[in-house]
Amino acid sequence: MSGGMSGADFLPQETIRRKRDGQALEPAEIAAFVAGLTAGRVGEGQAAAFAMAVFFRGLTLPERVALTRAMTGSGSVLRWDLPGPILDKHSTGGIGDTVSLALAPMVAACGGYVPMISGRGLGHTGGTLDKLAGIPGYDVAPGLDRFQAVVAEVGCAVIGQTADLAPADRRLYAIRDVTGTVESLDLITASILSKKLAAGLRGLVMDVKVGSGAFMTEMAAARALAESIVAVAAGAGLRTTALVTDMDAPLASAAGNAVEVRYALDYLTGRRREARFHAVTRALCAEMLVAGGLSPDVAAADERLEAALASGRAAEVFARMVAALGGPADLLDAPDRHLPGAPVIRPVRQAGTVAAVDTRALGLAVIGLGGGRRRAEDGIDARVGFTDLARPGDAHGLLGHVHAADDAAADRAEAALRAAYRMGAAPRERPCVLERIG
Ligand code: URA
Repeated sequence: MSGGMSGADFLPQETIRRKRDGQALEPAEIAAFVAGLTAGRVGEGQAAAFAMAVFFRGLTLPERVALTRAMTGSGSVLRWDLPGPILDKHSTGGIGDTVSLALAPMVAACGGYVPMISGRGLGHTGGTLDKLAGIPGYDVAPGLDRFQAVVAEVGCAVIGQTADLAPADRRLYAIRDVTGTVESLDLITASILSKKLAAGLRGLVMDVKVGSGAFMTEMAAARALAESIVAVAAGAGLRTTALVTDMDAPLASAAGNAVEVRYALDYLTGRRREARFHAVTRALCAEMLVAGGLSPDVAAADERLEAALASGRAAEVFARMVAALGGPADLLDAPDRHLPGAPVIRPVRQAGTVAAVDTRALGLAVIGLGGGRRRAEDGIDARVGFTDLARPGDAHGLLGHVHAADDAAADRAEAALRAAYRMGAAPRERPCVLERIG
C-alpha cells in the first residue's frame, strides 16, 4: 500500500490481519487505524485485537514512529511562544518517587518551561496527580488555556491528563488496561511519547526505574524500554535521553500523598535533603537543562541547579505554581496548616541492619492504608502513608513511621512494613543512576 489512504478504503480488519500475520504496516495504514480509533469507527473489539496482535508480533521502529505520530495528532498539539525551552520528564513509576514536584520548579528556576501532565497511581506505584490532590484548593484540571498561562507566568505547572491531548491513546490505553495488552514495549512507547509530543516539548528526559518497586524488575527490560523510547522520540523529532535509576528501595523516605508533598517542600527549602533523592532529581534536571540548551554540560547544569536550590528560587517557583493553581499562598511557610495529617502516627522499630526492602510491598501497603486505589473509581485518603522509611544498610533501629486513619489500619500497615523489610548483613550500595541512554 502506498500514499494516503482515504477513510472509505480503510478496513480495520485487514490491518489487524496483516499485523496478526507478522507483516509490517505502512504509516498511512497506521494513521487510518488511529483516526478510526479516535472517531469511533474502529470498534473496541478491533482495537483490542490490534493491541494483542502488536503484543505478539511487535512493531518495527518505523511502525512505532508512525503510531506515535498518529496518536500525537489525534487531538490538540500545544504550541508555545516563550523565551525558554519547553522541557519535561517522565518516570515509569515507583515508590517515594516524588521527583516531579521538585524537578519542575528547579528546571523552571533555571530558565526552562515545564508543562507537566501527570497521571494517577498505577498498580502498586504512586501518582503525582494523586499527591497534588492532597493540596487543598489545587486545581489539577485547569483547562488548557489556564495551564498554558500558568506555565508562561510561573515557568511550570503540574496538572492531570486532559481529554484534549492524544485522545487516541486515552481510548487505546483504556482498552489495553482490560485486555491484557498493557505490557507491550511498542504500545507503551507510543503511549508515553504521544502525550509528551502533544504537549509541544523540545526536550524530554525519561526516568526508567528498575528494581523491586518498579514495573521492570530486570535491567534488560528497563534498558529495552529506555532504548525504544529514545529511538522513537528521535524518529518523531523529540530530543530525549533516558536514565535507568534504582528502585530496589523507596527513592524518598516518604511514601503516600500529603507526606510526599511535604517531603518535596522540605527538599526544596533545604529543611531535609536526602542524598539519593537529591542525586536522582539533580541528574534528571541536568539532562533537561542540557537538552534545552540552558547549560553546556551536566557539570555546568549541576552548578546552576545547586544555585537555584540554595537561593530559594526553586522553592519560590513551587509556591507560585501552587498559588496560581488555586492552592494556599503560604504552603511553603506553613505546610502543617494546609497539608492534611493522619490521626494516628506510629513509629515502627526493629533492631539490626536492613538487608533488603520489598519495595513493591510498601507500595501495596500504602494502598492498604487507603492512599491508593483498589478499584478505578475509588477515592484517595491523602493523609496516610509512611515517613522516615529505612534504606538498605540502615541500622538505626527505626523502619519508619506509619500514618494511618485509625489504629486498626495502623496495625495492618505496621505488619506490612515489618514483612517488607529483611534484616541481615548490609548489602553493597547500588548506585542510584545505573545507566544513561541517548
Ligand atoms: N504509562 C503510559 O502512559 N502508557 C502506557 O502504556 C504505560 C504507562
